[in-house]
Amino acid sequence: MQKLEQLYEGKAKKVFKTDNEKQYIVEYKDDATAFNGEKKGTITGKGVVNNKMTAALFAMLEEHGIPTHQIELLSDRECLVKAVKILPLEVIVRNIAAGSLSQRLGIKEGTPMKKTVLEFCYKNDELGDPMINDYHIFAMELATEDQVEKIKDYALRINEILQKFFLERNIRLIDFKLEFGLYDGEVILADEISPDTCRLWDKDTDKKLDKDRFRRDLGGVEEVYQEVLSRIKNTEN
Ligand code: TMP
Repeated sequence: MQKLEQLYEGKAKKVFKTDNEKQYIVEYKDDATAFNGEKKGTITGKGVVNNKMTAALFAMLEEHGIPTHQIELLSDRECLVKAVKILPLEVIVRNIAAGSLSQRLGIKEGTPMKKTVLEFCYKNDELGDPMINDYHIFAMELATEDQVEKIKDYALRINEILQKFFLERNIRLIDFKLEFGLYDGEVILADEISPDTCRLWDKDTDKKLDKDRFRRDLGGVEEVYQEVLSRIKNTEN
């Protein structure tokens, strides 16, 4: 398999074509942005952590029956994936109030939600990824009703699996963002699951082990990325 020309460069990853038109190579960068790219920086080693963590979590989710785009880890920063067409939706799952939900609804950060909250955002940087609902999705033809049902079902199942997985590593899964793609007409999980896309708090101390340390200038950013990866790796079975 050969790495060919770059297809796309996002804020945290690059995507390359390969000599197989149904496979891409994703390359993870150390670049970090927040607030729709307004804040920029580098988190040294982040690309390696996010690549390895996503690979471990996607493999684990596959074992639980969740289809993902992952084929195989190629190197510290590269992963071979199925060439999906990404649906322009950010799917956010929330167990505990934090971030934009706390701001928007005036619910103190750390307050458990009585029911898991599922949100959709329209993946569009120019518009700042605005929140939308099912009606917008169908009216704008961003996904079909069947696809949205699948996405909701997968997102809630992934939440159950990940909550348990992180708790076993003394981490509370506060919230996270998923992206899905289409491959041979089927919805499968794509993108990444990492400290960039999750809020992860230490179960005993509530210490933030995620990108909020960068967003909010809390310091110790590199260290917590390594910490999360080592908690995952050291307890792998
Ligand atoms: P929020 O509270 O800022 O809406 O973020 C909710 C979750 O989604 C949080 O775990 C961080 C993640 N997220 C992304 O992965 N990408 C984004 O662009 C944003 C805004 C949030």
